[in-house]
Amino acid sequence: MKILVAGATGTVGRRLVPLLVEAGHDVSGTTRSAERAQALEESGARPLVVDVLDAEALRTAVADDRPDVIVHQLTDLAAEDFAANNRLRAEGTRNLVEAAKAAGVETMIAQSIAWLYVSGDTAATEDDPLDPHAPPYPGVSALEEAVATMPHGVVLRYGAFYGPGTWYAPDGAIAERVRAGLMKLNPAWTSFVHVDDAAAAAVEALEWPAGAVNVVDDEPALATEWIPVYCEAIGAPVPEARGRHARSTGRPISNAKARELGWTPQFTSWREGFGKL
Ligand SMILES: NC(=O)c1ccc[n+]([C@@H]2O[C@H](COP(=O)([O-])OP(=O)(O)OC[C@H]3O[C@@H](n4cnc5c(N)ncnc54)[C@H](OP(=O)(O)O)[C@@H]3O)[C@@H](O)[C@H]2O)c1
Repeated sequence: MKILVAGATGTVGRRLVPLLVEAGHDVSGTTRSAERAQALEESGARPLVVDVLDAEALRTAVADDRPDVIVHQLTDLAAEDFAANNRLRAEGTRNLVEAAKAAGVETMIAQSIAWLYVSGDTAATEDDPLDPHAPPYPGVSALEEAVATMPHGVVLRYGAFYGPGTWYAPDGAIAERVRAGLMKLNPAWTSFVHVDDAAAAAVEALEWPAGAVNVVDDEPALATEWIPVYCEAIGAPVPEARGRHARSTGRPISNAKARELGWTPQFTSWREGFGKL
């Protein structure tokens, strides 16, 4: 299959390209940088140097490349610039969907997030409503709505990435926050996924039906549980517990659908995965 990875140099894209090449696909990938284009070439992908916010240039690049499938792994989070990321999700995805349709591409698999469900203590499935008051909602809903207009659009609602090159890596932004004592030991839910498992899910999604799929590990965790394990893994002091009787916030996420579709994460729990950070 001819597969174009939009965001081929990002945390997931970097892992996804070699998996697709190894599986025998003809792979191309986008980046805005000539330097990273060379790295892409070295990993076996044809680089397309293009900014997805430039609709015209993107349309030409996709038409020239003529892929069968586009895997959208674009984010703009390296500098934790959430406004830029919202714009990329909304405008960038719209441009990508338009370019795909103009080039006759039918399938798009796109990166979304799993932590947008309305709060509660039962595990959220893909049928549960998203919270319109959550800050990432405008960008995420625009992304998901645009992908749903493709003849075949699959949305991967990823949990929090951990592993090399992520915010949770020992040199990442969350590790820094934990070491600075800025993370609270409170009953807030997080569902994690190792970045290698996230990339593997994108490969498997080539065979999945249209719709949203939560891609998280088997063990949603309260911060009171995961932070001490994480602190031990990165050698940071465990913060003191506060507000022991506070209500939990956020929502545990179910991966039952991804499991039924055949996705088998290498790291079924962050408990194992943190040990290998
Ligand atoms: N679910 C999660 O927890 C989650 C999801 C995403 C990211 N993150 C965190 O965010 C951090 C940074 O993410 P990241 O490494 O994926 O990097 P990133 O800087 O957010 O970039 C991701 C990809 O998007 C591309 N991109 C961004 N803007 C673009 C544009 N206008 N046009 C074309 N391509 C564009 C980048 O390409 P070029 O820069 O090469 O042009 C890159 O390939 C990571 O540490 C990760 O932990 C977390």
